Amino acid sequence: MTLIEGVALREVLDSRGEPTVEAEVYTESGAIGHGIAPSGASTGEHEAIERPPAEAIAAAREHAVPRLVGEVWAGDQRGVDAALRAADGTDNFSEIGANSAVAISMAAADAAAEVLGTPLYQHLGGSFRGRNYPVPLGNVIGGGEHAADATDIQEFLAVPVGAPSVSEAIFANAEIHRAVGDLFAERDVPCGKGDEGAWAPPVSDETAFDVAARAVERVADAVGFEIRLGIDVAATELWDGEHYVYSDETRTPDEQVEYMHELIDRWDLVYVEDPLEEDDFDGFVALTERAPSDTLICGDDLFVTNTERLVRGIEIEAGNSILIKPNQIGTLSATVDAIDLARERGFAPVISHRSGETEDTTIAHLAVAMNAPYIKTGAVGGERTAKLNELIRIADNA
Ligand code: PGA
Ligand code: ZN
Repeated sequence: MTLIEGVALREVLDSRGEPTVEAEVYTESGAIGHGIAPSGASTGEHEAIERPPAEAIAAAREHAVPRLVGEVWAGDQRGVDAALRAADGTDNFSEIGANSAVAISMAAADAAAEVLGTPLYQHLGGSFRGRNYPVPLGNVIGGGEHAADATDIQEFLAVPVGAPSVSEAIFANAEIHRAVGDLFAERDVPCGKGDEGAWAPPVSDETAFDVAARAVERVADAVGFEIRLGIDVAATELWDGEHYVYSDETRTPDEQVEYMHELIDRWDLVYVEDPLEEDDFDGFVALTERAPSDTLICGDDLFVTNTERLVRGIEIEAGNSILIKPNQIGTLSATVDAIDLARERGFAPVISHRSGETEDTTIAHLAVAMNAPYIKTGAVGGERTAKLNELIRIADNA
């Protein structure tokens, strides 16, 4: 393997038009790897710290780059990530920024794949993984922090559980997205789009469920395989410290658990993310106990891709699934640790984008490398289709 010879850091645009950190890692053998940090809007309190890009870049140049250049083999991902940790010196990347850290971590992996002459998923997963493809969770209607004057629930997701192939699943989600747009147009509901490309109509959650369910039914009938519904409540954003505050109602924590049960039952939900606020482990336990065994109760802000928080959740059965976002924890090594822990203990890992995204495709490779059962990376829009099309390409070339 070849040593890292240089690391370039610069600001580039994300899908919201905000600056974000891009890293390029150069090796002595002439390979170049890229990685671009995504950025959240409904970020969890316990996530690693994203610094303003210019500050994150300056701090990483000062502290991290000297520990990498001429020091670490490009293919030694654990070594790269340990150097990033040591350079940062905190437990949440508040010095060099999780945005600089994750961009460098991903760029090093990309450079190593080029050196080895293998696709990134094979470098990350090895020869014995990468034979299964994730079911894509397609965001078709959304509001919350991702769109103003839209639904309270952040994401209404199409889940094509019965699709015979990843590409049929991806195309089905795009069809559902289109059908949702048609149904709102028929009802004369004006519809913009939110940060992730989902329709963001000024309607109640009830109406959004109704339209999403109709669109799913229409497309499922046409394609002939099972498609179900899921949601990301992003409940921390509704939580005021005592109650969950919806546009038309306020719910206590107990009422919130009850409401989630009603929704699971009524809409036959196969996936429910962040149904309760980010510190309510007990609420997750109460919901998981009574939920159908085939419904995924997924922690995003609850676990923040952090193995310490995940261990706590696993031990008390707070949920049965974890959302995996590399920039929540800052390195690919820590991300893989969270995925491996989840799998060992029977929690389903769901690899995820952020609301602020770019053309970076690392998470598509990560999902295949880790045999992840699900990926959440939108349904339409260039920064979303970058990952979806990469999945189609990987499956086609395999
Ligand atoms: P974020 O939202 O990227 O804005 O944090 C995505 C999610 O909550 O899953
Ligand atoms: Zn979420």
